[in-house]
Amino acid sequence: MPLIRPEQTGDFDTVDALLLATFGRDAEVRLVHRLRASEKITSALVAEEKARILGHVVFSKIVVDGESGEVGALALAPLAVEPAFQRLGIGSALVSAGLERCRLNRHPRVLVLGDPVYYSRFGFVPAERFGLKCLFPARDHAFLAIELEPGAFARASGTVRYGHEFDDLE
Ligand SMILES: CC(C)(COP(=O)(O)OP(=O)(O)OC[C@H]1O[C@@H](n2cnc3c(N)ncnc32)[C@H](O)[C@@H]1OP(=O)(O)O)[C@@H](O)C(=O)NCCC(=O)NCCS
Repeated sequence: MPLIRPEQTGDFDTVDALLLATFGRDAEVRLVHRLRASEKITSALVAEEKARILGHVVFSKIVVDGESGEVGALALAPLAVEPAFQRLGIGSALVSAGLERCRLNRHPRVLVLGDPVYYSRFGFVPAERFGLKCLFPARDHAFLAIELEPGAFARASGTVRYGHEFDDLE
């Protein structure tokens, strides 16, 4: 299994290439560039094996507009594994390590737009269960949330606001 470690500035070009190869478009490259520029990233990890970067994940700050004010949360996006190395557990290792960091850094709320079957293995559930709505054009069942501390969303239901960094994503 590859080493999971924090992304460093020297990885940026390789990560761009990985995102392009994985998604077949540059929207995710631009997303990551914008998140770096806005300093909203709390954690960016790479999966490395034999000096080769095979996977990447980013957690960044977003906001829930709740009934009693704004509450902070994190977005998990993007998550990418080099196509030739998918289905080997690398994506799972990145998500698990990333969630562990969120927990350690006292970020108890994480949201993701993604496949419910894939993300349920980490404990993500439909975000609507916590009274969360997403203005981002997404299929409802793909909007998922996890509480890293029990009750983290108890007083944080409302509309989740993704920053302008996400504007290009479908
Ligand atoms: C989604 C992705 C990150 C998963 O990473 P991975 O390293 O291939 O996944 P893992 O090996 O940890 O997990 C594989 C498991 O997830 C399932 N899986 C993998 N990709 C999946 C997908 N796109 N949808 C649903 N299930 C998926 C596999 O069936 C496998 O299940 P199993 O272990 O029970 O056989 C990777 O396939 C990828 O980069 N895909 C293209 C980009 C993408 O869609 N990113 C997610 C955006 S939210």
